[in-house]
Amino acid sequence: MAVSEPWLGRPIDRVDGPDKVRGGARYTAEAEAAGLLHAVVIDATRPKGQLRSADTAAVEAVPGVVAVWTMLDAPPLDQPEQPKIPYEQPALKILSPPYYVLQENRVRFWGDIAGLVVAETSEAAHQAARLIRFDYEEVPPALAFDADTASFEPESLITGLDPKYRRGDAEEALASAEVTIDAVYETPSEHHNPIELAATVARFEDGKLTVHTTTQDPHGARMSLANSLELELDKVRVISRYLGGGFGSKYGTWPQTVLAAFAARELGRPVRLELSRKQMFALNGHRARHWQRVRLGANRDGTLQAIAQDIRCQTDTERRWVEHTGETTHIMYGCPNVRIDHAGVPANLPPNTIMRAPGSAPGMFAFESAMDELAMALGMDPIDLRLKNEPENDPDSGLPWSSRGLARALREGAERFGWSRRDPSPRSMRDGRWLIGWGVASAVYPAFRLPCGARVRVSANGEATVETAATDIGTGTYTILSQIAADALGLEPGAVSVVIGDTDLPKTPGSGGSWGAVSYGTAVKEACEDLLKKLGLERPEPGAIVQAMRARGEDEARGEAMAQPPKDKGVSSYSFGAHFVEVRVDPDTCEIRVPRALGVFGVGRAFNPKTARSQLMGGMVWGLGMALTEASVVDLRYGHFVNSDLAEYHVPVNADIRDLDTVILDEEDGAVTPLGGKGLGEVGIVGMAAAVANAVHHATGVRVRKLPITIESLAGRL
Ligand code: MOS
Repeated sequence: MAVSEPWLGRPIDRVDGPDKVRGGARYTAEAEAAGLLHAVVIDATRPKGQLRSADTAAVEAVPGVVAVWTMLDAPPLDQPEQPKIPYEQPALKILSPPYYVLQENRVRFWGDIAGLVVAETSEAAHQAARLIRFDYEEVPPALAFDADTASFEPESLITGLDPKYRRGDAEEALASAEVTIDAVYETPSEHHNPIELAATVARFEDGKLTVHTTTQDPHGARMSLANSLELELDKVRVISRYLGGGFGSKYGTWPQTVLAAFAARELGRPVRLELSRKQMFALNGHRARHWQRVRLGANRDGTLQAIAQDIRCQTDTERRWVEHTGETTHIMYGCPNVRIDHAGVPANLPPNTIMRAPGSAPGMFAFESAMDELAMALGMDPIDLRLKNEPENDPDSGLPWSSRGLARALREGAERFGWSRRDPSPRSMRDGRWLIGWGVASAVYPAFRLPCGARVRVSANGEATVETAATDIGTGTYTILSQIAADALGLEPGAVSVVIGDTDLPKTPGSGGSWGAVSYGTAVKEACEDLLKKLGLERPEPGAIVQAMRARGEDEARGEAMAQPPKDKGVSSYSFGAHFVEVRVDPDTCEIRVPRALGVFGVGRAFNPKTARSQLMGGMVWGLGMALTEASVVDLRYGHFVNSDLAEYHVPVNADIRDLDTVILDEEDGAVTPLGGKGLGEVGIVGMAAAVANAVHHATGVRVRKLPITIESLAGRL
């Protein structure tokens, strides 16, 4: 029988969709356990300093309260000098460190964990938590974020980019360039706001800890839990079957996950702890506020000669994690002289973390805005300027690209968008009273694959089960793994069960960094190939596995793999794209609308065009939010995020999104994985905010360099 058309590359429906719609998919907070207790974090309501005293009498008086702990009296946790289980990857140590929760009388930010209430019911715990009376010492917080606020230089960045990147001599080239741009761009703190709140359900049984928690990275959570509570790794099981979004906020492990497990151990009963939406603003990470100065130097014909990017990233005062914001600037265009400097500016704020397209999302807002400014200064079309500087090879490593779809994305996008009808002069296009602007910007994201394990079983009835620790953050992991296994085994996707989100299953990286699909998918493919090989089968023909099993008198076939990324692949791999945005601006009210946007992407092969399109569109919607509505505003007196709910933190909703289209270029690229993909979870947001800002400039002649662009950004300037 001929091998049928592959399932990979087909837009099949989500295999987990029906279960989610019917409520059959159990999310973390729904995990059940006999004798479950309910815990609520007591938040600090000062940004800094110590507790002088805590009055817990009213808390304890609430019927059903089982325990009240504060920073002053929580049970002791041993704090070894070094984590007992060594961290192999530095990034994991940053994102999922040990947490010795409630062991110190020290508030580090508003909303910090100052105590815990545990009760028989969720209602009692919530009511009791409000009755705490803390007496704080009053210490003024450090919250300034100006160009001259004291900063520090990070020793390294999470992706390995040198925090002081150098190529050629940017300063010298800037001094002698024919045309220069020098501008400062600012982006605010932003919060991930997944629909699903962060939650943990922890229980100890016979010395073994089982934790259901909202993590994108079960193995990372296990490391943090094991080190925090001094347990052997094999005594900790972390489960995360379904996630209602994460966007990076659930990649790392946060102290409250450890706190739930600590309480379960101390109290001898299972404990459930779920954050409120408000607590999510302090305890689940955010994207850092940034200040960036970008200087560009070019010849009159548009050839880039120099790029200098000075980045200041606001951090907390302890972890002091500086984002890799200049991550993609140095490979974007051909340019002999590049200098990128990263600095951190500590503040008494919650720790910042990775958030969808960390690094490139804020970095490329600044850089792609500056490119538009350069195009204006040169009197050149912004697409032509980018095409003029297309590098033959990766300008950093000198390696050839495995594929680089940027020029195609720009050209094909221009064609589809009707770019040739654009009048290049700002404030030249109108529709009635509306000022019309068309903007463009490039998108990019590194294409990584990480070592990843998987195993597969086929039973006598011909059904397969794929098992891997991987998570599905709502992006389609369940679906594409069933497609990949179906192809590799000669089955229909419906005959493949996918079991994921569990550290008892083969080890994988977390779902993030746009590496999930390529890492997990390659491991599943290799596990299936291992199964066929063990049966002596050369190709996945329908029915062949069951026949081979019968012939051997076996009732189950198994395969497993630990898929390693190519060591020295000799090429440079990134996903690319281009955003085209139309804005309409009311010249009197300064109201900004985005009636249409188009994103064209070169991401290798889309494993499932339907889920891929959702990912890319979701990224673009995020980009619109970043451009126009999203900002977490700090009260400079007390250091809390004032708009810590979905009424005041504005994410785009359906009514904000009009004609939004995505195109995935037909692109062959087998360098990252033989499956042909390059990852597409994050590239969709990168550059989108710049495309909007560039469109606003084209509509109005006003350059807004500070996000979000609101009515106030334009008021009095039109
Ligand atoms: Mo993503 S910010 O790596 O979850």
